Amino acid sequence: MGTPPHFLDRALLVVLPYAAAVAFFVLVAAQRLRLPPFNTPPPPPLRPLAERSLFGYGVVAIVGAHIVAFLIPEQVLRWNSDPFRRHALEVGVLILSLLTLVGLVLTVARCLFSAEARKGICFSDWVLYALLLVQLTGGIAVALFYPWGSSWSGITIVPYLRSLVRLDPNLDSIGGMPHLIKLHLASAWVLVFFLPFTRVVRPLIIGGWEEDTARARSRIVTAVLLVGLVFSVLPLLPRLWAIPMPGNHRGYEPEQPIAFSHRLHAGELQMSCLSCHGDAEKGRHAGIPSANACMSCHRLVTAPLRDFQAEARLAKEENRPARAIISPELAKLYAALGLDEKMQPDSSRAKTPIRWVKIHNLPSFTRFDHSAHVNAGVDCKHCHGPVETMERVRQVEDLSMGWCVQCHRDAKEHGVASRPVRPSNDCSTCHH
Ligand code: HEC
Ligand code: HEC
Ligand code: HEC
Ligand code: HEC
Ligand code: HEC
Repeated sequence: MGTPPHFLDRALLVVLPYAAAVAFFVLVAAQRLRLPPFNTPPPPPLRPLAERSLFGYGVVAIVGAHIVAFLIPEQVLRWNSDPFRRHALEVGVLILSLLTLVGLVLTVARCLFSAEARKGICFSDWVLYALLLVQLTGGIAVALFYPWGSSWSGITIVPYLRSLVRLDPNLDSIGGMPHLIKLHLASAWVLVFFLPFTRVVRPLIIGGWEEDTARARSRIVTAVLLVGLVFSVLPLLPRLWAIPMPGNHRGYEPEQPIAFSHRLHAGELQMSCLSCHGDAEKGRHAGIPSANACMSCHRLVTAPLRDFQAEARLAKEENRPARAIISPELAKLYAALGLDEKMQPDSSRAKTPIRWVKIHNLPSFTRFDHSAHVNAGVDCKHCHGPVETMERVRQVEDLSMGWCVQCHRDAKEHGVASRPVRPSNDCSTCHH
């Protein structure tokens, strides 16, 4: 797709990650086998600095958050469909990053100013601190200048990472990203590259921190418990998605000014969707039919059939001509058109448009087009559910970015009704 990637992009974002991965495994393996010239770095000082554990746990948590975001981007996008939840997520990670940064800066300061603290530090630690500093400030800058990263990374970074894992590196999805974000990615690869030279990998090399076996064993137990905890919490996560929050309009089913039934008209009477929403083939909006369009039938059908039959029966019993009947719901339709009881236009009555309550709403900064979908063969059902069974229309999908993007990805892979389509996931497809 498009122009071939810039050579610098390729060097930093394709060659570097693979080099880092190879370095990681080769060096760790070499050290594990105690091959010269790698000598294992010394064990950590007996009493770790408090600041260091602050940033240590911080880094673990941030790395964990990134890994989760990269493993389950669809779920993260779904979670983000509610602005409040997205805000909570991003502010949470930002606070965590700031705390980690504070811990790191304090650690570095302590080592700079205290000779005793410096003793427990080796050269590789200094380099690691510097790299972490770059990575953390870079990450915080990305969070501040390019907010909603938890959303956009799902469509940009994740496809890139997945292509790396497939050994088929593809820079399409990140080619156009701002330099700051590319830099953040590249410096992450530098960090991974350097890790085998630090004592962070020590547990991998000699299977522990050379502590007494009892403590090492208790650490293993803790790790096992933590993994167990994570796996037991995972099945609960989808339920969190379902918690209705302000802003998530799935299930929205407002009362309408006239009790118009899709079940009756589109289901029982088998009217096609396009006979009333014909604009869906032509442009952005499907449109709501005007009251005049209803009159092709409702000039005659002024009440449900059974009411006519009942009136006819009654009139026969009472031996009189059947009276015209108008159902209360359809009376509202006639009132809106300014018609009198004889269905004639009455100039003393004002025409008032029916104020249908709009159910599906996308934010104004998005671009959506019915015709692109309808003409590609996407069924109304796909996005609106079984409307022809609904007495009152209900919003079935959450209309979130994650939902749109997921379907575009699936449709590109599998086509629509086995016809190939090319929906795009470029930001500009759906945003102005
Ligand atoms: C007889 C005309 C008619 C037919 C046929 C019809 N609709 Fe509608 N539709 C309406 C009217 C009137 C409204 C506005 C009132 C309402 O929401 O129920 C509406 C509203 C809707 C809405 C909600 C729009 C919004 O967000 O406010 C959707 C979705 C919809 N129709 C889909 C369909 C689908 C899908 C079909 C075919 C299965 C269909 N309609 C068939 C007349 C029709
Ligand atoms: C790809 C998903 C998708 C498909 C397919 C789709 N719609 Fe929609 N529909 C939407 C979205 C999203 C909105 C909200 C649009 C907005 O707010 O701008 C919407 C809004 C509507 C509305 C409200 C009026 C409007 O145009 O904003 C109607 C009526 C409607 N759709 C009917 C239909 C009918 C009938 C079909 C099938 C012919 C259909 N839709 C197919 C996603 C879809
Ligand atoms: C193709 C013909 C046709 C069209 C077009 C049509 N309707 Fe109907 N509608 C009917 C029929 C037939 C019934 C009565 C069904 C029955 O016997 O219960 C009905 C029933 C209704 C009722 C229920 C009346 C009651 O009191 O139970 C309402 C409300 C209604 N229509 C509104 C509308 C509106 C609003 C439109 C335009 C958006 C519309 N209809 C378009 C054929 C149509
Ligand atoms: C049911 C799957 C599906 C869903 C859900 C969906 N799309 Fe699409 N989208 C498609 C397909 C298929 C096309 C047509 C691609 C083609 O014609 O090659 C398309 C095309 C488009 C286009 C036109 C692109 C162009 O190149 O002109 C836009 C814009 C768009 N979608 C926006 C959205 C938005 C916004 C949402 C969410 C509110 C959404 N889509 C949800 C499947 C989907
Ligand atoms: C297929 C359509 C589609 C594509 C492609 C898409 N978006 Fe969106 N985006 C949406 C829709 C729909 C919304 C509004 C619903 C929501 O907030 O989830 C949205 C919302 C957003 C928001 C606001 C988030 C919020 O919660 O308020 C941002 C920021 C955003 N998109 C950025 C991007 C960026 C950056 C890209 C490209 C990497 C992108 N989008 C690609 C459809 C899309």
